[in-house]
Amino acid sequence: MFIKNRGKVVVHVNYVHAQWSSRWAFVLAATGSAVGLGNIWKFPYMVGQGGGGAFVLVYLVCIVLIGIPIMMSEVLLGRRARLSPVNTMRVLAQQEGASPGWQFVGWLGMATGFLILSFYGVVAGWTLAYVFHSASGAFAMENPQHIKALFGAFVTDPQRVLVWHTLFMAMTTLIVARGVQAGLEKAVKVMMPVLFILLLALVFYSMGSGGFDEGWEFLFKTDFDKLTPAVILGAMGQAFFSLSLGMGAIMIYGSYLPQRSSIGGSTFLIVIADTVVALLAGLAVFPIVFANGLEPAAGPPLIFETLPIAFGQMPGGTFWGTLFFVLLVFAAWTSAISLIEPAVAWLTETRGVRRVLAAVLTGGFAWLLGMLTIMSFSDWAFSFRFLGVEKTHGFFDIFELLTTNITLPLGGILIALFAGWTIRRSHSQEELKLGSLAGFEIWLFLTRFVSPVMVGMLLLYLLFGHYLNA
Ligand code: PFF
Repeated sequence: MFIKNRGKVVVHVNYVHAQWSSRWAFVLAATGSAVGLGNIWKFPYMVGQGGGGAFVLVYLVCIVLIGIPIMMSEVLLGRRARLSPVNTMRVLAQQEGASPGWQFVGWLGMATGFLILSFYGVVAGWTLAYVFHSASGAFAMENPQHIKALFGAFVTDPQRVLVWHTLFMAMTTLIVARGVQAGLEKAVKVMMPVLFILLLALVFYSMGSGGFDEGWEFLFKTDFDKLTPAVILGAMGQAFFSLSLGMGAIMIYGSYLPQRSSIGGSTFLIVIADTVVALLAGLAVFPIVFANGLEPAAGPPLIFETLPIAFGQMPGGTFWGTLFFVLLVFAAWTSAISLIEPAVAWLTETRGVRRVLAAVLTGGFAWLLGMLTIMSFSDWAFSFRFLGVEKTHGFFDIFELLTTNITLPLGGILIALFAGWTIRRSHSQEELKLGSLAGFEIWLFLTRFVSPVMVGMLLLYLLFGHYLNA
């Protein structure tokens, strides 16, 4: 099949993608993509390193002013073209008489997806291992030092981590290979609600842990002295990461969305779910941190050093702990699949590669790249400074900072500019069908001005900020 514009072939498509069975399937799948390790593993440790409430406040502002409009933009673009992000950008640019160079956004997104998945798969592997640690009763009545040592011994053993990373990447490849409805939809429907309930139970436990007031204050009391540029940049990046924005994951999911479904309403639900889960994770983790005299700024190991303490002490903790890590694996799984979906869609659509092979190729590549992260926690660890903060996990930190702070926001800015300025107003209005003109105007204003300016300023600071400080 050819996609033509004014008689000229724009892309040659071998394959027409399937669609979600309903709007709900889309909301669930996009929520599955958004809710993951980013909420439960990354959010708490970034809050811990970013000084608590100040970080949370900036994060919430970014979700509203940048996250919501950009998510709507991604879905709008994806659904309009119904192609992989690379071709979506190319075809829409053609239709609007703009440069085909816009497809760069799609390429940047694919590269970002591989980089993220490479470390995401490793951390998901840790989680998978913790299912079994937990089930074996390893946390029961253990003291915090011992639990910390257990994690330390595990992550610094590359061979053991490799086994779990491999297993997780195989699971991811399998689901992606099965395709949109059979694979992705079924995986999400059951697991999300159960994870949510379990998280509530953990918060409930934390309320009685003796550190709840301190934890609450840490999360929600804003100390404006802590509001450094590094914290602001980190919080904005985390908003992109957590909502899966800026790399085409939501765009490709949007391309499978049936025509009549509401984009505004769906976005609202996804954003609320994602934010609530992140805040609940914070409320579960920090009381445990303070009740046990632990370090909030412990970094990536944080949840693996705190939550097992709670499970070790609560009645039935072996069961609850195991269930929690199982669900966290599922949450990571439904996010991981969306990280390679843009590349898989592109391979099937333009290269005629069968879906199974495309999944194996992309999953295999991310798996290989994951070796660098595995080694960053043992023999190949090296440190460097980033915006005045000491980073000690070499390649892992580089990939994490590069994607969270640079390529996701950059992709996001370009998507906003494209949806806001390049797509004709009448076209975006027709696709979004927001119901009220005021709603549309607010979206357009945020997309055209607010998000590009906010994100742009932070990226400029990142590039030139050291001159200001010098
Ligand atoms: N949003 C996911 C999480 O919070 O765990 C991670 C992620 C998935 C980021 C998909 C980006 C993406 F495109």
